[in-house]
Amino acid sequence: MPEEKNAAAGTASPRHIAIIMDGNGRWATQRGLPRTAGHKVGAENLLKIAYYCKDVVGVKYLTVYAFSTENWKRATEEVNVIMLLLDHYLHEFIEVMARDHFRICFFGDLSKLSPKLKKIAARTDEVSNALPKDYCRLNLCINYGGRDEILRAARKYAADCAQGIRTPEELDEHLFSTYLDSDEVPDPELIIRPSGELRLSNFLLWQCAYSEFYFTDTLWPDFTTDEIDRAIASYAKRNRRFGGVK
Ligand code: IPE
Ligand code: IPE
Ligand code: MG
Repeated sequence: MPEEKNAAAGTASPRHIAIIMDGNGRWATQRGLPRTAGHKVGAENLLKIAYYCKDVVGVKYLTVYAFSTENWKRATEEVNVIMLLLDHYLHEFIEVMARDHFRICFFGDLSKLSPKLKKIAARTDEVSNALPKDYCRLNLCINYGGRDEILRAARKYAADCAQGIRTPEELDEHLFSTYLDSDEVPDPELIIRPSGELRLSNFLLWQCAYSEFYFTDTLWPDFTTDEIDRAIASYAKRNRRFGGVK
């Protein structure tokens, strides 16, 4: 990590940043373009921000919200374009993960995706699993909802109890968290939402218990590395008490 960035971020530089990549549609509409044009520019922007977070900020985990369990409500054409973009960028990324020291993992219920997308996601998992664990981990949230993640974890735990592998009594926060998509990933210290909306929209509901939030009006396609610096500078000034007294 370059010295000057580390200093700018203070001692509290986050290990895990999560981003709700919102505002693509409005960005396009403001330019008289179809909403899908915003998704294209938004996807390109993710690459730029991901490399910056890894190489300059030095984060070990970056979690990005790409498609929610509620986003299926949108027009079929828009959903199709988002799925095509995911497919396209996963094919590109899979080629450079080893070279660039990235691992890509998925949060969300991938069973609802097309066979094509499921296949590339499985290949991405395979490549990631073979890479060193200390590489920066990019968690892509696709067909992800915080409530759905918690429900799927509860179902898996109940199934393990029914099989005699687990008991209801031994369940605690740590054990439950190992059943979530975010198993082995520390909670995000910082959650960023561009686009001016002041809500979580079902993102990381379990993991955000003590996260710091950074909201900005900038739309995701316009979101720059300077915004990341501003978010981290804001984070560095926060007084994190976790319920205690400082
Ligand atoms: C975020 O941008 C991308 C997805 C939700 C898939 P939006 O498409 O929600 O953009 P706005 O919020 O309508 O501007
Ligand atoms: C959240 O954005 C989901 C993603 C960015 C993928 P939305 O645009 O779906 O959220 P709402 O509808 O404004 O709450
Ligand atoms: Mg939106």
